[in-house]
Amino acid sequence: MARRISEELISEICNRNDIIDYVSQYVALKKSGRGDFGGLCPFHNEKTPSFHVSQDKQLFHCFGCGASGNLVQFVMRAENLDFVDALKVLADRAGIIIPEEDDFNDENHEKKKKILEINKLTAKFFHNCLKDKDIGLTARNYLIGRKISSKTVTAFGIGYAPKSKDALLNYLKGKGYLENEITDASLAVLRDGKTIDKFRDRVMFPIINVRGDVIGFGGRIMHNNKDVNGYKIPKYLNSSETAVFDKGKNLFSLNIAKNERKPEIILCEGYMDVISTYQAGVKNIVATLGTAITPDQARLMMRYANEILICYDSDEAGIKAALRAIDVINEANGKSRVIKLKGAKDPDEYINRNGIERFKEAVKKAVPSTEFKLSLIKSQYDTSTTDGKVRFLDEAVDVFKTVQDPIEIDAYITKLAQDMDVNKDAVLSRYKEKAEKDRYVSNIRMRNAVTERRPERLEAGGKVHNVPPALIGAQKRLLSLIAGNKRFYNAAKKEISPEEFSKDIYRRLAQKIYDCYENGTNPQEAIILNDFCANDEEMNEASSVFYNMEVYTGDTNVIYDLIYTIKIGKIQMLIDNETDAKKLMQLFGEKKQLEDKKNKWEGQ
Ligand code: UTP
Ligand code: MN
Repeated sequence: MARRISEELISEICNRNDIIDYVSQYVALKKSGRGDFGGLCPFHNEKTPSFHVSQDKQLFHCFGCGASGNLVQFVMRAENLDFVDALKVLADRAGIIIPEEDDFNDENHEKKKKILEINKLTAKFFHNCLKDKDIGLTARNYLIGRKISSKTVTAFGIGYAPKSKDALLNYLKGKGYLENEITDASLAVLRDGKTIDKFRDRVMFPIINVRGDVIGFGGRIMHNNKDVNGYKIPKYLNSSETAVFDKGKNLFSLNIAKNERKPEIILCEGYMDVISTYQAGVKNIVATLGTAITPDQARLMMRYANEILICYDSDEAGIKAALRAIDVINEANGKSRVIKLKGAKDPDEYINRNGIERFKEAVKKAVPSTEFKLSLIKSQYDTSTTDGKVRFLDEAVDVFKTVQDPIEIDAYITKLAQDMDVNKDAVLSRYKEKAEKDRYVSNIRMRNAVTERRPERLEAGGKVHNVPPALIGAQKRLLSLIAGNKRFYNAAKKEISPEEFSKDIYRRLAQKIYDCYENGTNPQEAIILNDFCANDEEMNEASSVFYNMEVYTGDTNVIYDLIYTIKIGKIQMLIDNETDAKKLMQLFGEKKQLEDKKNKWEGQ
């Protein structure tokens, strides 16, 4: 659900952070002019610096790859976050609180903040226990037994929850937290009227969200599944849902996987699968948190990758879960394939047995989800008999109901008919018959998927024209000049309105600049740009308007010249494309008027 953050708050967050400070964490910046800093672009490979950051405008711009934008955009790109999450990072740095849609009351916010603090301290505590010479010995040996290196332990912040009933409680109380706060964080539980540590004698895996907050924990026992009294206890214990932990909305290790920026994300079932695979060098892998995959999780992954490679356990439960995952991903408009691992229970076991190269081969051979489903169905029928064939085909065509691409459907039907040695039209009509029933539903889905796009070319006289580069240049320069100088704006506003700009992006920028002045404030480029954060391309283009390094304080004639260039360019374009004599006469009239006006401007 999109969250609305007020413009004032966005402005405050932007104003309380400095772009030079922030970018310096990623780029060695050198001063290259008044308020201008340069360095090597973090967004593409280069040997000579073409990346610039302007302190005055609070913008960055790369003359090499064209990446451009404000600080929020920089955080989005550098950290691979969406707009709201990037704003959160910046808000945290500045100590500003962003109210969430569901909790505008401060109490809930304070509660969340407190749980995150407690979780962070707890992760450190567990990690230190693991490193402790005596306390952590068995856990360290357990991890050695599972071939986990200390480097991997550090990378995931793996820890150990001591045996005692109150080690963590005492530690946190010593830091000033109350028992009920620790219980709210799902780190303590009430047992026989007494509050005790929830996690005891377990290897601990912190669960970290894309913003880098510790939101919960998973803990594994190190022995068989019996406690001292012989009762069976769960192999893994996870934090219950808390104000900050929603198992259906987060994924283990997505904070690491997203930074790999690979076209695919591998989805598996277990923490240890992720950790082993990561250790072997394949890091674009995540796991669900002990529950079946949800549409939210599918969408979350699709934010960072084009395709999800499902790598579930090879047992029956794993296959069932994989089938479910395919449907959930399909419904969330995502793409998936399935990785098949033969002769091992899960990725961890597979890699330990066969090595990472074999795993990588299996990843390369991942089968498209439709094919995976069809082959599973086929294995349930004896297709050498006519009856088996008929029943197989009947079930097989159901698979296409969730496939969106008609070419894919046709290709599979052709192949199915060939394999089964039956007439393609017969299979096709069986499919259509079944699909017809579902049409209503899919129509609704289609309607929701279609999003509106505003035209970016000049529409005039009922036609769409490409705008020549000179005209683009004039519009960019005009926007940049009026944004930086009220005197220029005052001259321009009488002669040109926002709608007269040729591109949607320019019209929106102009409207923003005009609104600012009319509301009595000076436009700030970096803040105006927040409207364009949803789309990298738009942001680059909008930001490049402001990033031209021009410092012009001369007279307003330049504004009139630019407006003339823009208007005459537009009329000329229409004249060039017009064949109707009457309309041409009209256009020539407009051109003449404009030229008269120019003479008047020049006389001023
Ligand atoms: P598995 O039982 O497949 O464990 O559970 P695993 O990942 O192979 O772990 P190892 O190799 O035995 O250490 C897969 C996932 O299901 C959840 C956990 O998230 C686990 O990573 N799970 C499993 C639980 O939440 N509770 C359990 O008791 C077991
Ligand atoms: Mn395992």
